[in-house]
This record gives sequence, structure tokens and C-alpha cells, in this order.
Amino acid sequence: MPRNWDFGSDKRLFQMSRETVPVITIDGPAGSGKGTIAVKLASLLGYHYLGSGTLYRVLAWFSLHHQVEADDLESVLGMCETMQIRFETFGEDGEVRVWIDGQDISDRLRTEECALGASRLAMCQPVREALLEKQHGFRMAPGLVAEGRDMGTVVFPDARLKIYLTASAMERAQRRHKQLRKQGISASLDDLLAEIEARDARDKERAISPLRPADDAVRVDSTNLTIAQVVQHVAALVNN
Ligand code: C5P
Repeated sequence: MPRNWDFGSDKRLFQMSRETVPVITIDGPAGSGKGTIAVKLASLLGYHYLGSGTLYRVLAWFSLHHQVEADDLESVLGMCETMQIRFETFGEDGEVRVWIDGQDISDRLRTEECALGASRLAMCQPVREALLEKQHGFRMAPGLVAEGRDMGTVVFPDARLKIYLTASAMERAQRRHKQLRKQGISASLDDLLAEIEARDARDKERAISPLRPADDAVRVDSTNLTIAQVVQHVAALVNN
């Protein structure tokens, strides 16, 4: 993905053309499957992909890696400006690799430490504002599938199609349980359910960019659907 664009002196021309690039947003709570669905949909349509949660995780990882205090806003915002991030997606199983300044840091972003740091940074308005520009930079022809919590409400309010993907908390806990078991990690279903419910509450109740469906979003409940069925359903909505 190109990083350093030179748009000459007429930035307005660039902005006008960027706004015509179609965007599909997929928002929803943790574990709803939005990441997998977004990657598969992007692959199907030949669109770019943005996993916005990863940007928050990357900043958290940067802070830990460079031993920057999370409340040292100046340094965090400086990192935000200079980091070069690239997503590499694999259509078959929806795998995403994340490259920062030429280094693959995907596995390091999945830690609980990064998730916690990300959710702390996500509550900080200057960080959200700095990431806004970064996220707009992913809007490139022929199109973009962007997933997260506020893609349809704040980042791309003019998206062509907005999906709000949900699943019951128990179903999401069961999916996570199965995923962990596959990795040989044992966890209690009750604990996972409690964690998911706590995270839902935090995301929905925070003052800045809370998780909520955009007024014009289509709600899709994936509780009783397979991944393939959800992709098929959303692809049909795109073609409508
Ligand atoms: O989606 P993921 O779990 O990777 O997101 C990491 C953190 O970033 C979450 O705690 C979530 O609240 C936050 N986030 C956000 N806005 C987004 C995407 C993620 O606040 N658009």
C-alpha cells in the first residue's frame, strides 16, 4: 500500500476525489466477528481493509516498546504522526498481518497488555483526533472496508453501506472459548462471558465515540449464522 503520497499543491483536489471512494463500515462489539467478516468482504470486493482497533493497539505497543508513559500525550501523538502502518490480509481464513515501519508485529498486538493499553488510549480525545486523519488515509480506490466501533458514526459518516454486527454475549464467549481451546489455552466460559460483558459496557458507556449503531446502519445478528452466511448477506447488501 503506498504511504507517502505527493498530491502537489492542490490538496482540495485530492480530498474531493478521496470522498468519492466507496466505504463499507462494519461496527460492533468485541467478538462479533467483524474483523473476519471485514477481511473476507474486502477480499471479495478487491477493496482495501482497515482494522481500526489495531491502530489503538499499535499505539499501545509503541508506548510499551519505547517505554513511553501512556499519559505522555506528546510522545504518543508524535508516534501517531510518524508510524507507517500496513495491513496484509489473507482472504481464505481472514488472517491479518500488521506491519509497522517494515516490521511484522501482529503477534505482539494480541496480548492482553496491548488490549488494555488500547482501550485506555481509546478514551483520549486527542488520540482519537490524531487517528482520525490516519484512518481517512486508508480510503483509497477502488474502495475500503473499515471495521471498529465508530467507523459509521464518526470516521466515515458518508459510508455507502454501514453494518452493525452483533451476536449474543454467550455466543461471543463460546466463540472465544473455542478459539482459545484450538490454541491449547484453557479458560472458563463464565470468566470469558464476564469479560465480554464488562468490555461491552465500557465501549458503550464511554463519553467519547461510544459503540452504537449509526442511525442509517443495517443491523446484522450473527448469533445463528456461519461466517460464510454473514459474508453472503453483507455482499448482497453491497450489491443492492
Ligand atoms: O477491536 P480491538 O479489540 O482490536 O480494539 C482495541 C481497543 O480499541 C478496544 O478496547 C476498543 O474499545 C478500542 N477501539 C475504539 N474505536 C475503534 C476501534 C477500537 O475505541 N474504532
